[in-house]
Amino acid sequence: MASSTDAGQPANGRTRLRDGLGFFGSFLRNPGSVGAVLPSSRYLARALVGRLELKPGELIVEYGPGTGPVTDVIRTSLPPGARYLGIELDPRFHELLTQRYPGLEFHLGSAADIEGVLRQRGLPRPVRIISGLPFASLPAAVQDGIAAGIVHCLRGGGGDFRTFQYVHAYGLRAARRFRALMAERFGGFERLGPVVRNVPPAFVLRYWGVK
Ligand SMILES: C[S@@+](CC[C@H](N)C(=O)[O-])C[C@H]1O[C@@H](n2cnc3c(N)ncnc32)[C@H](O)[C@@H]1O
Repeated sequence: MASSTDAGQPANGRTRLRDGLGFFGSFLRNPGSVGAVLPSSRYLARALVGRLELKPGELIVEYGPGTGPVTDVIRTSLPPGARYLGIELDPRFHELLTQRYPGLEFHLGSAADIEGVLRQRGLPRPVRIISGLPFASLPAAVQDGIAAGIVHCLRGGGGDFRTFQYVHAYGLRAARRFRALMAERFGGFERLGPVVRNVPPAFVLRYWGVK
């Protein structure tokens, strides 16, 4: 999916067009797990990532990086010595990401397996988890597994979990279910936006303080 000229470069217009077409193809093959027809805009990506104040050795994890619009923002604001791990389920996206961002670490698999992935790679628990997963279209059992992993990672630390939900899907049962699940487990919650410079517009959700 990616050419070698992409390596380490921020996405330009042509790359974004090619990413958009590739992303749409993946959506047609796996609508439930891709959950969107286009990659996120840089406006949504910036709102999602927020300020990164990681210390050397601290880890940020991204769930579902896709073609990498959020990864781009993380990479350019990652403090020296801080670490990054992306977990992507789709093998095509995973291949594109490993070619495009040779300095970053990507795992091919499910975010639900976070505990084992960290153990296997000798990584610490993350201080921030940023998710592009389409919770509004993920089955309840998958939501539960992913939420349990997030809680495990952030328990006892000062870190947070950030994700987005599209405005048009905010009221869907699965989207409400995921928010209720997180509200049971986290004391802190804020909703930012909507970010309107994204197709479609989306809210950013932030959770912190595992109960
Ligand atoms: C809505 S897209 C977001 C892509 C990208 N973060 C963006 O904002 O454009 C959802 C992504 O999550 C990935 N995904 C879905 N289920 C996953 C899972 N259980 N673990 C890891 N990645 C998953 C999909 O393959 C896809 O890349």
